[in-house]
Amino acid sequence: MHETVLVTGATGTTGSALVELLLGHDVSVRAMVRSDAAAARFAGSAVTPVVADLDDPAAVAAALAGVDRAYLVTPSSERAQAQQVRFAELAAQAGVAHLVKLSQLAADEESPVRFLRYHAAVERRIRELGIAATFLRPNLFLQGMLAMAGPIREGRLFAPIGDARVSAVDVRDVAAVAAAVLTGPGHEGATYTITGPAALTHAEIAAALGDATGRPVAFVDVPPAVFAAQLRGVLPDWQADGLLEDYAHYARGEAAAVLPTVQEVTGRAPRTVAEFARDHEAAFTPV
Ligand SMILES: NC(=O)c1ccc[n+]([C@@H]2O[C@H](COP(=O)([O-])OP(=O)(O)OC[C@H]3O[C@@H](n4cnc5c(N)ncnc54)[C@H](OP(=O)(O)O)[C@@H]3O)[C@@H](O)[C@H]2O)c1
Repeated sequence: MHETVLVTGATGTTGSALVELLLGHDVSVRAMVRSDAAAARFAGSAVTPVVADLDDPAAVAAALAGVDRAYLVTPSSERAQAQQVRFAELAAQAGVAHLVKLSQLAADEESPVRFLRYHAAVERRIRELGIAATFLRPNLFLQGMLAMAGPIREGRLFAPIGDARVSAVDVRDVAAVAAAVLTGPGHEGATYTITGPAALTHAEIAAALGDATGRPVAFVDVPPAVFAAQLRGVLPDWQADGLLEDYAHYARGEAAAVLPTVQEVTGRAPRTVAEFARDHEAAFTPV
């Protein structure tokens, strides 16, 4: 059967990579975006854009009409849990056969990390709805380094993480798992924890960035309060506080496990930090 797959967050980090990968499969790809301007980016491609804001249930319901499978992602904001729960409810009402939700490694309603709590609460609601679902729980995205490209270009990678190891993963591998799950059979009911191929210290990540650009990058272990001050005004407070909780969780060594999920689901080994650094060398190189 020829299926229609709806991708939310189609302009975002994972969603845009997923849309590209789905174009290589025998499915109709519907990309949910927030504006006509964002829809225009798909002009001339095989992707059908649909304009809907997650806070507009009528528009989301219309976007879901006739959809077989859907990929659900939102940014981690104060509204994320409500937005995701409503989307899942509308998907169940629309008769979507398979919902794939982007979650996070170690999602747990009892976690001290707010992101992990809301993800687990959404997972629970989706289970209650009885809609067939797959939960993707990736570890820290290597692409997060791109948000720190300014200081990295100046030779410094700042994070409040000490020498803790994190099995950070390339977003392209998260998207590859999502594409396999959305186009193949047998993934309903699964929860996939998605990691990179190695547990790395930030000093090792900094060294890989330096190797790729030919200019040394030093890791600087900043106290959480200093990191917090750097985030204030850059991110909304709720998100900045959540990121600090995330880093405290990494610093406790709770995100160091390496799992074979990418290889098992996609048939391909996950990308290394050296590959990530090489592929994004331009962003990390001073002009
Ligand atoms: N970063 C990490 O290291 C990491 C690790 C594990 C899990 N995660 C999880 O990954 C998720 C974020 O994924 P991502 O990086 O792919 O997201 P992202 O790049 O932040 O993209 C978010 C997408 O959502 C869209 N969006 C925002 N508000 C919307 C609304 N009201 N209605 C419709 N669309 C809306 C954005 O559209 P616009 O372009 O219009 O803004 C964008 O396409 C979070 O749940 C986080 O917990 C992140």
